[in-house]
Amino acid sequence: MCGIVGYVGEKQALTVVVEGLRRLEYRGYDSAGVAVVCGDRLETRKKAGKLANLEVLLGSDPLPASTTGIGHTRWATHGAPNDVNAHPHVSEDGRIAVIHNGIIENFAELRAELAADGVLLTSETDTEVVAHLLAAQSPLVGGDLAEAMRQVCRRLEGAFTLVAIDSEQPNLVVGARRNSPLVVGRGEGENFLASDVSAFIAYTREAIELGQDQVVALTPESIVVTTFDGEPAEISEFTVTWDASAAEKGGYDTFMLKEIAEQPRAVADTLRGRIGREGLLQLDEMRLGDVELREIDKIIIIACGTAYHAGLIAKYAIEHWTRIPCEVELASEFRYRDPILDRQTLVVAISQSVETMDTLMAMRHAREQGSRVLAICNTQGSTIPRESDAVLYTHAGPEVAVASTKAFLTQVVACYLVALYLAQVRGNKFGDEIVAILRQLSDMPQKIDLMLDTVEPVRELARAFVHARSVLFIGRHVGYPVALEGALKLKELAYMHAEGFAAGELKHGPIALLEEGLPVIVVVPSPRGRSVIHEKIVSNIQEVRARGALTIVIAEEGDESVTPYADHIIRVPECPTLMQPLLATVPLQVFACEMATAKGHDVDQPRNLAKSVTVE
Ligand code: M6R
Repeated sequence: MCGIVGYVGEKQALTVVVEGLRRLEYRGYDSAGVAVVCGDRLETRKKAGKLANLEVLLGSDPLPASTTGIGHTRWATHGAPNDVNAHPHVSEDGRIAVIHNGIIENFAELRAELAADGVLLTSETDTEVVAHLLAAQSPLVGGDLAEAMRQVCRRLEGAFTLVAIDSEQPNLVVGARRNSPLVVGRGEGENFLASDVSAFIAYTREAIELGQDQVVALTPESIVVTTFDGEPAEISEFTVTWDASAAEKGGYDTFMLKEIAEQPRAVADTLRGRIGREGLLQLDEMRLGDVELREIDKIIIIACGTAYHAGLIAKYAIEHWTRIPCEVELASEFRYRDPILDRQTLVVAISQSVETMDTLMAMRHAREQGSRVLAICNTQGSTIPRESDAVLYTHAGPEVAVASTKAFLTQVVACYLVALYLAQVRGNKFGDEIVAILRQLSDMPQKIDLMLDTVEPVRELARAFVHARSVLFIGRHVGYPVALEGALKLKELAYMHAEGFAAGELKHGPIALLEEGLPVIVVVPSPRGRSVIHEKIVSNIQEVRARGALTIVIAEEGDESVTPYADHIIRVPECPTLMQPLLATVPLQVFACEMATAKGHDVDQPRNLAKSVTVE
């Protein structure tokens, strides 16, 4: 939530900062603002709404040339999304400008203190107090902005990334972080600060991950990182493995369409290098040893939203392949229910962005209770992987559209790899069984590709139902989380009522929702092996149809048993039951994307949402 960019160097700061904001806009789009140092003064421009509004303002009221600047794109927490509450916030004397991501929990107390000192606060934000506190602190520390930042940060509670500039130190940008993300980009004669590397990837791939409670001072030539206490801090450098083109639309109308199309490649990348010569798994990055893995007697998966749905699917595979009991829990609920955890519990935290505060707090809670935490992540350079005992990266590449697509498929695959690795190490499966399942997984990129080739009728279907008031999704077994995911996609993109149910639960209440013409999307598992779940769901389709609802059935090629009861059929290539979510989810993503487009919605940046949820 909220995107932050800072630049100091030789280029025009405004160009770098606005370009960075464009790449970070997925993090929040309630308002945008910039500040630059020019001569001995600061200039700011800010505007409610999307970055485009700010760009119009910059066109009519340009900023002077400057090589030091900061920029912000906001997802509102404290205060309405208007011009006044937009960042940057500036100290009363106009000297210091601040941008912020996170929530300063003790801001009311600090605000009261400032007001008592006669400071005039003009916005409703928690951020503004930092600008005034820095201005008050600065003269006490000889005008040293970095030292003022350290002192102020020690007074702040909550989660925050702060970046500030000072008109009296024109070649300096200072950043600070606690719990919220901030990465440094190391350039030649220029340096960058941003919420994530995509903001500066066009200029450098050399990055530095900032640790917890650290302050960084950037000049064109130097990067100095200290703790909040002023001690030199250890830094962790990394090279970003993708380039700027990966974060572009690449000819697609939207990032979401591009990311849907990238799924075969993304799944292949999740598998790449992890299957050894004998066809068994080698997870070199697994920092948990075999002894520790053999000790595990319970697995708890924690995640939010789409990542939670990936976890729900993984549960079926984990329990089936490893015989270890597995629970899946919404990260936001986890630590408040006093879960039973110990050293033998493996907590698997799934997060694409690695910034989700609910997930971070849940995994911290698990570690405090002595559990081991394995993170399944996509993005590099943040707290969740750093605070985990082991990390498995999905290698999906940057996901820019707010609605998660390729992250979901690759999270499922990564969870499957963890499950198979456990089965391999603990001897729950014979080597040849593991090899066979890994072959099935390796076939999936090609099958997803086939699936993508046949989704045109899904688009037509979405357009046909554009005026539907509601869409229901049902499934059994792994088809149930797929139904949940299909409903979530439709809610967040098409802003319509959509709900996923376990098909067996219909009769226990939701069947009352059925009415003439209501579209119900049914995820049908493979009929092969005379699957009981297949038989049961065919009955469920009939029950739905008997009540006048319209059935849209997702079924395997050649499964004719569903044909008499389906108003529309979407075919998926043949594959084993546990692999089917990797195919059946794809038409649901396309359905939601097309429906949103037909309704004229912004597919990449749906209303009220942000890609990274960095507040609880
Ligand atoms: O970055 P994370 O995987 O931790 O994000 C979790 C959810 O916020 C995310 O999956 C969200 O539900 C998506 N926007 C759904 O499309």
